[in-house]
Amino acid sequence: MVQDKATRRSQHKINIAIDGYSSCGKGTLAKALAKHLDYIFIDSGAMYRAVTLHMMRMGVDVLNETAVMDALQGVTLSCSINKQKQTEIILNGKGVESEIRGLLVASKVSEVSKILAVRNKLVAIQQEIGMNKGVVMDGRDIGTVVFPQAEVKIFMTANSAVRANRRFEELIANGDAVSLETVRKNLEHRDSIDESREHSPLSRTSDYCILDNSDLSKEKQLEIALKWVNDALNSVNS
Ligand code: DC
Repeated sequence: MVQDKATRRSQHKINIAIDGYSSCGKGTLAKALAKHLDYIFIDSGAMYRAVTLHMMRMGVDVLNETAVMDALQGVTLSCSINKQKQTEIILNGKGVESEIRGLLVASKVSEVSKILAVRNKLVAIQQEIGMNKGVVMDGRDIGTVVFPQAEVKIFMTANSAVRANRRFEELIANGDAVSLETVRKNLEHRDSIDESREHSPLSRTSDYCILDNSDLSKEKQLEIALKWVNDALNSVNS
């Protein structure tokens, strides 16, 4: 049963972790859930992208771990929550939303995300945001590392052709002149680094609910996820 907002507000809140491959619609589902539940949506990938943008602005070679760690000292990251209850990443005092979405940042972000010092810094920020619950966060390690106690963990996947097409259309809509092939290669490259890296690789534990949305509409995936969420809410509030 879908609960109304007033009922939910009087209840204990939960954290919802959504992990999965690049461009499988994690953000779309996370935003829809946050809106429905009146929770805060946090895109953890945007934080890794913002750190990557900083490295690029500073001319840091992202393959040079020591140089990245040095430049990390100069990074101040925060989240501002807009009227839609969505977060915008603020890098050193300035919003960077459009800059972090391009293919240039995407081509380097997985390298930066491999570095333990980067992960430690961002995980600490993410855990602080989730302390009071009521957060839907998407990423690669949210249910395994950031919120291992999250009441709902969803692992999203979709076949790679569907994902490449979705990402391609997004980039084209944003005015990026890219080819579908370039987008597909970038996705595959990022997936393989994300899954094989030493620290906090993308993985799923047995407590994840698996959601393959290759053939699902946005409405249907929301309906499925809400069922899992309502089961968890019923159990923490019973
Ligand atoms: O979700 P996204 O595609 O915007 O994420 C960009 C990159 O950041 C992704 O290739 C891997 C990394 N990332 C991560 O390592 N851990 C997270 N929790 C989120 C993203």
